[in-house]
Amino acid sequence: MIVHRYLYQATFAIMSFLYGYNVLNGSSENKDGNGTHPQNRLFAIASGKGGVGKTVITASLGVGLAKLKKRVIVVDADLAGANLHAAVGIERPHQTSYQFLRKDILHLNEALQDHPRFPNLKILSGAIGPLGLANLNYFQKLKFIRHIKKLEADFILIDLGAGSGNNVIDFFLAADHGIVVTNPNSLSILDSYNFLKLALLRKISREIKGYNNGLDLLKQIASSETHRTQMTMHKLVREIRMRDIHLGEKIVSVVSEFSPLLLVNMAMDSKDENVVLTLRAAAQELLSINVAYLGSVRKDATVDKALHEMIPFIDYDSKSLAARDLANIVITQFIQSQSFEAYRDEKVRQSRLIRIKDIKTNTFICSVECYLYWQGCSHKKGGHPCGLMSSIPRRIEKTG
Ligand SMILES: Nc1ncnc2c1ncn2[C@@H]1O[C@H](COP(=O)(O)OP(=O)(O)O)[C@@H](O)[C@H]1O
Ligand SMILES: [Mg+2]
Repeated sequence: MIVHRYLYQATFAIMSFLYGYNVLNGSSENKDGNGTHPQNRLFAIASGKGGVGKTVITASLGVGLAKLKKRVIVVDADLAGANLHAAVGIERPHQTSYQFLRKDILHLNEALQDHPRFPNLKILSGAIGPLGLANLNYFQKLKFIRHIKKLEADFILIDLGAGSGNNVIDFFLAADHGIVVTNPNSLSILDSYNFLKLALLRKISREIKGYNNGLDLLKQIASSETHRTQMTMHKLVREIRMRDIHLGEKIVSVVSEFSPLLLVNMAMDSKDENVVLTLRAAAQELLSINVAYLGSVRKDATVDKALHEMIPFIDYDSKSLAARDLANIVITQFIQSQSFEAYRDEKVRQSRLIRIKDIKTNTFICSVECYLYWQGCSHKKGGHPCGLMSSIPRRIEKTG
């Protein structure tokens, strides 16, 4: 539970983040050649730090969906350490996005490679070897994203590099759905929270570009925080509203559109679900965002064995714990949930219900607003974070 406390003690760190923003607006309103809605098929898989299992999850997610007859493209956008091809079972890719970025080929679909075993699965491998692509320049990034959006598939899954660099975050924000993969330990949860915070701030800073002095105002207010007073999204919006009501409303609307998904990998037991609640509660209280939970995949030695043999773990041993967990996520979250459209609508609806202005009056016991109660709080040494009480009031009794 100590992580819960850490999260609330995390400072907003807005200043350093607001520099160097840029705009990546996708044409998400268009329909693709098949008449499907492109805005519901592009998933970016990210994490605060490396090694949490993004690549093996992306590969197995792709295979799981392809086995269910969905047309899937998995994209390696880990530009510094491309290895998705190996995780799906391709030793040496014939072609990679490098050819496209170097302008050797004009269309990104020429760089796609069919999977030798799964007919519905294609892979866009990342450059292995050549230097110089780890840091895509601004125009290369825009072009890459634009062309990924034009690819034809039911699901496009983008495996991102680790961390909170601008390139990673811009891919994350450009996707229709951003999935954060986390491990159930304190540091990983903290990394995931920080990633979400930076992604949200970047989204805001990009979208208020049209507002006179919007960014300056944001920086000015953010810089008024001290180590004793933390800036929450609620406070930030309140301060901005007092100076510029339209800008304040714009930020509320940008925040309500940010609805990331969370997947816990390497879970050990059911207690690990608590970390999810912790992260979700902190994201709600500090950032005023809703993080939807996709589910968890248990820690399982089969995953490593499968990787060693270059077979996606979902296909290596379908009875293994990890394969069963991920298959469950594929079916319940990706196939049965109406392609995430319902998900998205529900999340937008929920975030409207929990209006930023209401958060203060709905104060949770363990919230950042609540230092006074922390010493006497029965949740201090464990148990559910109090944010949970507000989200599922009928199931949890208030004890703190
Ligand atoms: N559920 C799991 N159980 C056991 N090991 C796992 C699990 N998920 C991932 N791993 C292992 O963790 C390591 C890192 O996985 P990888 O997908 O490369 O992480 P990332 O892409 O986030 O850096 C690999 O050795 C992989 O086999
Ligand atoms: Mg990886």
